[in-house]
Amino acid sequence: MADKKVILSGSTVTGDLTIGNYIGAMNNWKKMQEEYNCHYFIADLHALTVAQDPKALRERCFSFFAQYLALGLDPENNTIFVQSHIHEHAELAWILTCLTPMGNLNRMTQFKDKSSNTKNINAGLFTYPVLMAADILLYQADVVPVGEDQRQHMELCRDLVVFWENRYGEGTLKMPEAYIGKAGARVMSLQDPSKKMSKSDENEKNFVSIIDTPKKIQKKIKSAQTDSDTVVSFDQEKKPGLANLLTIYSVLSEKSIDDIVKDYEGKMYGHLKVDLADLVVETLKPVQEKYDDLMKNKDYLEQLMAKGASKARVRAADTLKKVYEDTGLIFRA
Ligand code: TRP
Repeated sequence: MADKKVILSGSTVTGDLTIGNYIGAMNNWKKMQEEYNCHYFIADLHALTVAQDPKALRERCFSFFAQYLALGLDPENNTIFVQSHIHEHAELAWILTCLTPMGNLNRMTQFKDKSSNTKNINAGLFTYPVLMAADILLYQADVVPVGEDQRQHMELCRDLVVFWENRYGEGTLKMPEAYIGKAGARVMSLQDPSKKMSKSDENEKNFVSIIDTPKKIQKKIKSAQTDSDTVVSFDQEKKPGLANLLTIYSVLSEKSIDDIVKDYEGKMYGHLKVDLADLVVETLKPVQEKYDDLMKNKDYLEQLMAKGASKARVRAADTLKKVYEDTGLIFRA
């Protein structure tokens, strides 16, 4: 385990996981857990950058944790934890905040976007990328899978390693690489197939969540955006909406796209949509059953959270100790 490279990724608790996550999980998690030492966490501290209802936030954190497990993320072979359970995140974030030039944060486009449509902007929203850097650097992560929208935050994280080394020397923080998945190999939004399906999309017609009811799933797929042609064929350029549906169909049914296209010769898009919706409902059934069971057993979820945290803490504490030494803080005896 020690010589495997470390993967780390976090997910803020907004929205629910989507069929895009389901397909990503199917394709990647098993392989990744064999090749890497994987760390996944629920970014509950990041969620506090926008006002949260306390009860809803707590429920959502449980729900998120349960959704990852229901998708098949194995807590034995991966380290799955809740960010706030490792106090080192907040500590390192503060120390890094004191190393971060205001100018670097002022340039963050995500802050500009988010703050332009929020009335009460708090300082946490501004320093959000520094906490994210702390998340990554604490675990000496080699690879960080993130969405395209996180590219600039990853750059800040890498800059901070350089700033650190200039001030305190090398050997404490590891330079991480961002891994940004390629377009095409992913599930796109149902209403706007030019963008990725995202759990935090404000329009919920754009995604199918893994815990949507069958009725909702049917409705969303039926109203997915397609062109006005009627011939079912795969054309990424001219028929991106249909191409997206065919891709989902193909992955979930394990049939080739060509075979599916043949099956729908002479049929309308509507037939394909109805069948795809049924397929998605069937596919998600066992996931939803597992999710429901887990949500009925919060004690068990808490146990798994504690187990994940105690695994994660070892690495985090090790890094923080070095950070204390570098910075001149006295490490608690
Ligand atoms: N900011 C990330 C997002 O919105 C979530 C996140 C927080 C994260 N900390 C992280 C992702 C550390 C990767 C590594 O998607």
